[in-house]
Order: sequence, then C-alpha cells, then structure tokens
Amino acid sequence: MTGKLTLAVPVLVAATWAIAQEDTFAFIPDGGRTILAAALSADASLAGRLAAAATAEEWLSRIERGDLPGIAGLDDWQARTLADYLAYAAPVDPAALQPDGRDMTLERCQSCHIVTVVVTQARTREAWLGTLAKPSHVEIPLTTPERDQLADYLAVNAGLPIDAIPPELRAGGASY
Ligand code: HEC
Repeated sequence: MTGKLTLAVPVLVAATWAIAQEDTFAFIPDGGRTILAAALSADASLAGRLAAAATAEEWLSRIERGDLPGIAGLDDWQARTLADYLAYAAPVDPAALQPDGRDMTLERCQSCHIVTVVVTQARTREAWLGTLAKPSHVEIPLTTPERDQLADYLAVNAGLPIDAIPPELRAGGASY
C-alpha cells in the first residue's frame, strides 16, 4: 500500500506537467497522427482501409470523396496534413501510430530556439528542406524520410500569424 502511494505522486506530477505542456502548444495545428487517432476512435473500421501504401494525392482524393470511414469535417489544411501523413505512415498499425510532423517539431525544433521561430515561417516544402539542410540544422537527428515528412507538415501548417502565438512564446525568440 505504502509502495503504491509513493509511486502515485511522481505519476501525477508527470501527468500534470504533460497537460500543461499540451496547453502551451495547443496553438500549433494537429499533425496527421492526432487527426488519424480521432478518426480511428470515431470509426474503427477505418483501420482496414489503411493497410496499403498510397501517394499523398491518392489519400487526399479518398478523403475528399468521403471514402474513408470516420473521417469527416476536416478543413483543407487538415485534409492535406492527414494525406501527407498517410503517405509516410501506411500501412498503418492503429495500435502504434508513428510520430507526425508536429511531434517532430516539438521534439526536435526547440532546443536551440523557441518553436515560434519555426511555426511563424510560411515556406514551401523545398524551402523547408533547405532550412533543414543548413549547417545549423544538418546535424539534427532526423532521417531523410522524417525530414521530408516534417517539411510537408510545416509547408501546410507553419506561417501562423503572431497573434496566434501565446504571449510567453513571442518575445526573445532565439538563444543562438
Ligand atoms: C542544434 C541547434 C538547432 C536546432 C535543434 C534547431 N535549430 Fe533552427 N536555428 C539554429 C540556429 C543556430 C539558427 C540561426 C542560424 C541560421 O539561420 O542558420 C536557426 C534558425 C532557424 C530558423 C530561422 C532562420 C532560417 O533559416 O530561416 C528557422 C526557420 C529554423 N531555425 C527552423 C528550425 C527547425 C524546423 C528545427 C527543427 C527541425 C530547428 N530549427 C531546430 C539552430 C537550431
């Protein structure tokens, strides 16, 4: 009993911390993993439609045709984000969805400067790949497919207006 109690405290602290983190970054648009997880919980039969690889264009046209159960009401950015994600993630294991571009942004793009530097830039996919290939970024531990996926996510979802950024993440943008 005592053992269980001592364990519960750090777990609670970690959970509270995770929620606080999530709130701080809630302004960064959902990535494909989150959009797909919501659709899978809306209709589990979707899993059977994700068993083969396809291109992002093919996924986008299935989403737009309403061919994928559980997926409805996405705006154009979310549809594009999901299609891009599926192009990397399919065949999908619903029990182990791979990280998306938003996850990579939060994990890999905050240690040298705040994430604001990243998410306020509107760039094409090619321009993002160029940013990632600069000497400042080339050593970041991301594989080539991960860089492609991150560039796809940022091309669609970055370029957020400054008034979408929480005040605590606006000033003092960089520490490099
Ligand atoms: C190892 C440290 C480091 C990490 C990690 C890092 N950056 Fe940077 N970043 C820098 C430095 C240094 C600069 C300023 C020099 C420059 O522009 O290359 C910079 C500047 C930038 C800029 C503004 C300048 C430009 O190129 O337009 C963007 C955008 C950017 N980083 C994106 C990213 C993204 C996306 C990630 C995550 C994949 C990331 N950074 C992670 C070091 C880092």
